Amino acid sequence: MTRFNHVIVRRPGRSLAEGITSASELGRPIYERALEEHRDYVHALERCGVDITILSALEAYPDSCFVEDPAVITRCGAIITNPGAPSRNGEKAEIEPVIRRFFSDDQIARIEAPGTLEGGDVMMVGDHFFVGRSARTNEEGIRQFLDILNSWGLEGSEVPLRHVLHLKTGVNYIEDGNMLVSGEFINHSAFACYNKIVVPDEEAYGANCIWVNGTVIVAKGYPAVLRAVQELGYETIVVDTSEFRKVDGGLSCLSLRF
Ligand code: GLY
Repeated sequence: MTRFNHVIVRRPGRSLAEGITSASELGRPIYERALEEHRDYVHALERCGVDITILSALEAYPDSCFVEDPAVITRCGAIITNPGAPSRNGEKAEIEPVIRRFFSDDQIARIEAPGTLEGGDVMMVGDHFFVGRSARTNEEGIRQFLDILNSWGLEGSEVPLRHVLHLKTGVNYIEDGNMLVSGEFINHSAFACYNKIVVPDEEAYGANCIWVNGTVIVAKGYPAVLRAVQELGYETIVVDTSEFRKVDGGLSCLSLRF
């Protein structure tokens, strides 16, 4: 049974406004509001019974508050990724010393060039890891990732992406066989065996929820998602992530949970 004891987050910097975005029509994030949303996010996680490591902002890396991308953490060890976005690649060197506080040398592996992989493309379902093949995560990165998993007695499988940035932009597992699916994942054969909560197009961003020790954290402003999750019997906490949405960020990419 999954249980998270630790969470790593990084405060956003003022440079968040320069983060990569596919949604420029939403405007640039407002730093003070992003900080407030981030504090609320941390408070929500605290309510879920985890220890939280809060890292300082890194102005040199506008997207570095999205700590989920430069590392993937499993129950057997941690994988330092090789982010496919050039402006984010240096984040791997910033996260590694933090990962080393929790894992020994033999529990740490790396994705090496020419492989690329970002943690937002990895969805953990027990000991199986679905990996999105995206503009950020390539075939070689996935090959290396699956080899590492196999060497630890874990397994994974590739899911090609057509439209979304990262796998978890559109599909998220909330334990107990329940999976939120939107857009291209609604009828995807890889997820046919799960109890699917189909997210309507107008709430697609809300598909990015996180399960933390029995509670599901849901983004503010997605009532159909919230209702569906509550009807499944979960405790829920709603957190506003609208400033992070402006730079394609969401609930899952704001933390590493393990
Ligand atoms: N702005 C988040 C990302 O593109 O990775």
